[in-house]
Parts: sequence; C-alpha cells; structure tokens
Amino acid sequence: MARRPQHPGDGFVEAIDDRTLIAIAEEQPELSEGRIHGEVVQAPIFEAPGQTRVGRFGWKDQHSSLLSFIGDAYLNEMGITNRLRPTDVTTVLKTTNDPEDQPDDLGLADIDHFAQFIRGTMVPPRDTALAATPAAIRGGELFRRVGCSVCHVESITTAPAGTVIDGGMFTVLEALGNKVIHPFGDFLLHDIGTGDGIVQVGPQDTANKLRTAPLWGLRTKPRFMHDLRSLSLENAISRHEGEAHEPARRFKELSPEEREALITFLNTL
Ligand code: HEC
Repeated sequence: MARRPQHPGDGFVEAIDDRTLIAIAEEQPELSEGRIHGEVVQAPIFEAPGQTRVGRFGWKDQHSSLLSFIGDAYLNEMGITNRLRPTDVTTVLKTTNDPEDQPDDLGLADIDHFAQFIRGTMVPPRDTALAATPAAIRGGELFRRVGCSVCHVESITTAPAGTVIDGGMFTVLEALGNKVIHPFGDFLLHDIGTGDGIVQVGPQDTANKLRTAPLWGLRTKPRFMHDLRSLSLENAISRHEGEAHEPARRFKELSPEEREALITFLNTL
C-alpha cells in the first residue's frame, strides 16, 4: 500500500492560483529543450458541484480543494461518510446512519475542522544549520544546474489574501495570501517512468504520470517514491527516466563529491 503524501503546508498549496501552476507548465519546455512539460488536470470541487480547479493534491492531482481531498479521505481511508461523500463504499456490518460526520454546535463537521487544521499548519521547516554549510550550498547550485528544479520548483507565490478560490467556497486568508513558499515541486503530472497505469480525473494519457513529489520535508521520510521502493535518495534519483532522463543522467555524470553535495542539499529539505 502506497504512503499518503504528507500534509503540512497544504493550506499554502491550496492558495496557489490556477494560473500560477499553468504558467509553470508552460515554461517547462523552454527550460528543458522541449523534454519536460508538466500536465495540468482539472479536478472537481465537491463542495461546489459542477466546478473544477487545477488539481494539486493526491498522486494524480485528483483534488484541488483541501475540503474535497479530506471528504474523500474520510470516506475512502476511514469509511466515514460526510456531506461531500455521503455514500459508503461497502455497507457490510454497517449500523450507523449517513452521513456519519455530522455538524457540531458551531455548524462545522469534522471535515471542516480538519480542513481548518491543515490550513493552519506551517510549511515543513528546513534544516537551516545544514543548509548553511558549503556542501549544501554547492549541492543546491548543482540541483539547479542539472535541471532538477525544472520540476522540483523551488519557490511559488500564493494568491493574494482575499482571492476567492475553490469554486467560491473559500477565500484566501491573510496568513496564507501572497506568501513565497518553497515546496520544491510543481504540483504537475509527469511521466518519469514510474507510472502505475491508473487514471483518475485526468485524460487517458495521465495513466503513467505522477505528481512531482514536493521535496519539502524530504529529510523526515525513510523511503521514497510513490511505491516506497526507494530506500536511498540515490536510488530515487536513478529511477527518474522519461521526462526526467536528462537531469538524472547529468546527476550520474557528476563527480562523487558533487553527487554527495547534492544529496547533502536534499537532506536540508
Ligand atoms: C520531469 C520532472 C522531474 C525532474 C526533472 C526531476 N524529478 Fe524528482 N520527481 C518527479 C516525480 C514525478 C516524482 C515522483 C515519482 C514517484 O513517486 O514515482 C519525483 C520524486 C523525487 C524524489 C522522491 C521524493 C519522495 O518524497 O518520495 C526525489 C528525492 C527526487 N525526485 C529528486 C530529484 C532530483 C535530485 C532530480 C534531479 C537530478 C529530480 N528529482 C528531477 C519529477 C521530476
């Protein structure tokens, strides 16, 4: 069973304007001699039926609003029906009435509180001491030079506070608006040769694409890639093929010291 992506900082990711993600995708061919072009998919917003927004959560970018993502997870991961996902996947041994997630005295259901909680989390912190070392600084330069940063985008600015998003159901808060975040990801789908053949909200050609894993918080993870098959960062990098073939090849051609510096940089994230 695949690990779920981690969620700290996702409130900032939700606050990224669609146009910002589309612009990142449009720049990629130019930055990569035409080899890299992230795919933007439209994901439904359950709380605003009939409306969509650029997907950014989940392995396949199948969600664009945190509330939808959470409503889906409550049902699919925990079997808790809620107003956005009112129908059980299985009713074996079921004794409760739907939806199980009912509003409290404030009129907020569990999914609303959970969305508020995630929107209140800070982004994963850097290891600033390690990041200040010469090796890490050199590694960061190499990360950009070999082209990792075309997909693992270092900095993205969120939409201004007051911007209405999620199909009119959420307004970007002061604390989330116009902030420069450092996700080291583009939240777009790419074929780097690790695809699983699964299509979710995107067209058929997304079957073997996956969302670029944002690298913030990387140093807290014991295993890598969506299938958790990589036990080391070197192995994760060596599995980058397809759209990421060139950067992975250039990494392989670095000197041992340079490769080590790049890994040191990754360990600051
Ligand atoms: C074409 C876009 C692209 C480029 C270029 C790229 N990556 Fe990735 N990277 C991805 C995608 C997509 C994934 C997720 C793949 C998966 O889970 O199967 C990923 C996953 C990773 C992971 C695993 C993260 C985790 O949380 O499991 C690491 C580490 C990583 N990349 C490092 C690098 C480095 C270092 C470079 C440069 C040598 C690089 N990547 C270049 C798209 C890219």
